Amino acid sequence: MNSTSHDRLLIIDFGSQVTQLIARRLRELSVYCEIHPYQNVTMDFVRDFAPKAVIFSGGPDSVTRDGSPRAPQDIFDYGVPILGICYGQQVMMQQLGGKVEGGKISGGGGTAEFGRAFVTPEGTLPLLNGWFTEGDEQVWMSHGDHVSQIAPGFEVFGTSPNAPYAITADRARNFYAVQFHPEVHHTPNGAKLYENFVRLAGFSGDWTMGAYREQMIEQIRAQVGDKKVICGLSGGVDSSVAAILIHEAIGDQLTCVFVDHGLLRKDEATEVVSMFRDNYNIQLIHADESELFLGELDGQSDPETKRKIIGKLFIDVFQKHADTIDGAEFLAQGTLYPDVIESVSFSGGPSVTIKSHHNVGGLPEKMGLKLVEPLRELFKDEVRALGRELGLPTSFIGRHPFPGPGLAIRCPGEITRAKLDILREADAVYIDQIRKHGLYDEIWQAYVAILPVRTVGVMGDGRTYDYACALRAVTSVDGMTADYYPFTHEFLGETATRIINEVQGINRVTYDITSKPPGTIEWE
Ligand code: XMP
Repeated sequence: MNSTSHDRLLIIDFGSQVTQLIARRLRELSVYCEIHPYQNVTMDFVRDFAPKAVIFSGGPDSVTRDGSPRAPQDIFDYGVPILGICYGQQVMMQQLGGKVEGGKISGGGGTAEFGRAFVTPEGTLPLLNGWFTEGDEQVWMSHGDHVSQIAPGFEVFGTSPNAPYAITADRARNFYAVQFHPEVHHTPNGAKLYENFVRLAGFSGDWTMGAYREQMIEQIRAQVGDKKVICGLSGGVDSSVAAILIHEAIGDQLTCVFVDHGLLRKDEATEVVSMFRDNYNIQLIHADESELFLGELDGQSDPETKRKIIGKLFIDVFQKHADTIDGAEFLAQGTLYPDVIESVSFSGGPSVTIKSHHNVGGLPEKMGLKLVEPLRELFKDEVRALGRELGLPTSFIGRHPFPGPGLAIRCPGEITRAKLDILREADAVYIDQIRKHGLYDEIWQAYVAILPVRTVGVMGDGRTYDYACALRAVTSVDGMTADYYPFTHEFLGETATRIINEVQGINRVTYDITSKPPGTIEWE
């Protein structure tokens, strides 16, 4: 498990919705950290992980409840600084001999508190360097219970009207506890607090992309030896960065398979092939399987059926081409850290499937391959930084996400080649407009969907009866929620005119102003 030689920080996750943000703040400080659910954190685990500091996250439970989550008691004797946040603060107090009480919802002095609050300083503490320079600090509180008595050895360094123990510390042992969430945006100076914490814990900030690249290259070489690796390329940022990194490590032992399902955007297949084959000299199988995919999709209009057909064919086709590579023992995947973090689930129940996702899950077992996942410690923006480090063009790194099933899910109802051709042209004009207006990087994802409806129009002196299309553009942080992008009417008008003039087959343009939820980003 101990895969890196960096200074390491352990985040014990008690189930807060925002634990990942703690990791984000720390990675921004060039500190390597990992999130692990409290159930997995035994003292053996801690010793093996060898953290230089530990953070206890927030969480939804109440420490007053029997059987509620705890940290291993001996962690307090392990000798490294600990920072407890919200529920983490309460765990710390309870385990070290203080008291926590269930919250009253109103009234002063230790009640439940949700939302913005202001903390007033008491005394000085290195953890708070750079805080309180302009008076009280705004923080974000979200707690039902509260600490009613701090543990022996702790002193108070900040109070808020409803949290007399907003900031406490045991200076001798380097234990710190805050009732609020410094990792969220609504605690504007929160990053400073993390910075002070890692400084006083002695982190050197050695987590850089240059160092990561070197370390991963060594690790890939050690893992793979002289064996062969197959990598599925989608043209997206993650699989591309993974492929280039692996190629740098093992050269021609890597073969990439690019499955072209005929559902890609205009010129996309050519761009991917020329970038990898010509620019990077990577061995690449361009599997043009569009006949097969479009044939199987013929006459299908149900979204889930379409997704399932594509997912299954993709695996079959990938396997067929991979089988032609003699002696491959490894499959490379662009898995990222958010996919790896095991979440603390309190509900226990499976969530409803909104859409079955197309991916190559299950392939490694089916093909008897071992996995190479050089990005599994990285967040998305770190993958982009690594891509820059590896010399990928900025325009490529900043590309909007593109779904595995491709244009199939942007063509509601039946898919035909004619519709796909129209869609490709319209999408190219739309993206060109967005780039020309300098909006591309402000938008998470933008695309055109061709609608299963034809409408009457008039062009010149003639009647037209062509397809309607919908433009979609959203802002988002992670694709889980999204807002529609507020284009100006001028932009929309200009874009509609260009699409109708330049794309034969479309005579009506609409703009989709649905957010997610209740909509989804893709139409199917
Ligand atoms: P939805 O439509 O569910 O999309 O709001 C959220 C994000 O996921 C992308 N997406 C997919 N990506 N395989 C993928 O690799 C899929 O099957 C798939 N379906 C949706 C979508 O483009 C958006 O970024």
